Amino acid sequence: MLKKYYVTTPLYYGTGRPHLGSLYSTLLADVSTRWHKLKGYETFFLTGTDEHGQKIAESAAKAGKKPKEFVDVFVAEYKKTWKDYRIDYTKFIRTTDDEHKEAVIKLVNTLLEKGDVYKGVYEGWYCVPDETFVPGKHKKGDVGPACPSCNRETIYISETCYFFKLSAYQDKLLTFFKEHPDFIYPKERLNEVIAFVESGLKDLCISRSTVKWGIPFPGEDDQVIYVWADALTNYIAALGYGDEKRAQEFAKWWPADLHIMAKDIVRFHAVYWIAFLMAIGVKLPHHLLVHGWITIGGQKMSKSLGNAVDPQELLKYYDVDALRYYLVSHFSTSQDSTFSIDDLEKVITQDLANELGNLLNRVIVLARKHNVNKIAPREEWSSATVDLQKSYDVMMKSFNEYMQKYMFHMAYAEVKKYIAQVNAYVHAREPWLLADKDPEAFVETLAAVASSLYAVAHLLWPVMPLKMEELLQALGKKLILGEGTVENLAAWGQEIAFNETKSLFEKVEGRWQEAHLPEEVKTRIEEIDIADFAKVHMAVGTIKEAEVVEKSDKLLKLQVDCGEYGMRQILAGVKQWYKPEDLIGAQGIFVVNLKPRKLMGIDSQGMMLFVEGDKKLERIHPAGKASSGKRVR
Ligand code: MSP
Repeated sequence: MLKKYYVTTPLYYGTGRPHLGSLYSTLLADVSTRWHKLKGYETFFLTGTDEHGQKIAESAAKAGKKPKEFVDVFVAEYKKTWKDYRIDYTKFIRTTDDEHKEAVIKLVNTLLEKGDVYKGVYEGWYCVPDETFVPGKHKKGDVGPACPSCNRETIYISETCYFFKLSAYQDKLLTFFKEHPDFIYPKERLNEVIAFVESGLKDLCISRSTVKWGIPFPGEDDQVIYVWADALTNYIAALGYGDEKRAQEFAKWWPADLHIMAKDIVRFHAVYWIAFLMAIGVKLPHHLLVHGWITIGGQKMSKSLGNAVDPQELLKYYDVDALRYYLVSHFSTSQDSTFSIDDLEKVITQDLANELGNLLNRVIVLARKHNVNKIAPREEWSSATVDLQKSYDVMMKSFNEYMQKYMFHMAYAEVKKYIAQVNAYVHAREPWLLADKDPEAFVETLAAVASSLYAVAHLLWPVMPLKMEELLQALGKKLILGEGTVENLAAWGQEIAFNETKSLFEKVEGRWQEAHLPEEVKTRIEEIDIADFAKVHMAVGTIKEAEVVEKSDKLLKLQVDCGEYGMRQILAGVKQWYKPEDLIGAQGIFVVNLKPRKLMGIDSQGMMLFVEGDKKLERIHPAGKASSGKRVR
């Protein structure tokens, strides 16, 4: 029997460039696709853009462009970012594609034929950014309710439209949810959906007569199909729904194994989409993965809030596979998670450079140093290695269980734990001492570590495809995809080589700040309270020692006597203007209650203040001599 796997992402609005949130959903789809490839499934991964509706029409008009022209630019940006992030999708669908439009018309015609649609008038509130009808008792002329999902202003609309009899599906939906308790991951989201349906479903407006940019409603010259009814249909349109010539393709892939999205749009997928499918008599998707939001400063990251992180910007400083690893391992698929450059740099440095990369390096350097360029298959293992093998089995069991439930962050936490166990095994075995003392035990240790790395590289391949292929090459191995791969990863006795290789990952702590030092100085002007100002402790400090930070173009490392605040090691980005000897013995003004941070892997426990002079940053210091530690106020 064909083992197939069909996964989809939401169709992103073509109103802007991709940001970290859209990348996250798409990356999860890529990881789950690759994971299934590894297990021998034939896969179909669909993504694309949502290009009709009021929101797009208004944004395009503001930009002075035709809607299609307007979205074309962003579609190209999406495609580029997905390529740069090694997103290996099968198909990119646009709701302006002909095949999509035909499928949507087919869906609406089928709803009409089944008698599930009637003509009426919608009077009420509408959220344009979310393209949602918002319930509310307010009347025309009132200030409308804020959108319950995005909290933005709603507008009053009154228009003729067609309604889909959603209310008639209330019981069928509840029965379906009851019979499929694992329809939504994580479970809590299913409970929220059930509560929403139980609170009573109203019929859903599926056309708009005051919007012109959309797919014409069959038989109506002045109505277009409501953008959500249009966009949701993409999941079947991409497989040729309604096209008899493509019946086989449709039967091969549908139903979807997984629809991925964040919690903002679960209702559209779990309620409206499922009801549409029930109504047109098409099978229902197996699962939804509803992940949380990436937040920044406690708020959802979004284009309209202006706090979006640009994935392209991150690529200027970090390796793409390392970024993928950070996103998958650090962000929970079940909850909101905060993005921060600090965390990103910590995760890359610790998990990848220090733990995984170092482990590979150590074993290769050690093996080659003792002229072990290859190890032959072996069957005998000592008890320490048998213990490691048992840890591997435990890890694999949990890993599989978590992957099954799409809890990627938990699954990869298991892999991380196992890598730490392999590192601990190396520490305990001290192979650098064994090489001469006990060559047999030396080779066994190398074999155990290399076999572990072989397995780990496959498990991590869905997240870091290129880096893990490089890791396998270093061991003289190739990635194996297909049935049985995962079960056979624990190939402890296989032949392995130790090829000379460069480090897989770099330590990146402080890289962002290092690159953005000048920007840090140009703070935005914003009024603050005296209480805010009082939070900043500034004091006089006397510089006792100063030296250059070799690898940095900007940094000097200072040892500063800050009186009652103690001796502080403080980094200052002034290498281009000051020699260490210019500063030794000098006084300056220092912020002494900044959270300690690392720049280029070096601790900095404060900040030295300078004035922007014409040619250089000028040191600020007391006019006469002041005691170290005296507060500046
Ligand atoms: N066009 C609709 C979806 C139609 S699907 C048939 C839409 N588009 S969107 O551009 O607003 O994308 C929403 C989706 O983008 C979220 O459900 C999520 O998958 C992703 N994300 C957008 N911002 C996000 C975060 N801050 N965090 C995590 N995911 C985010 O809604």
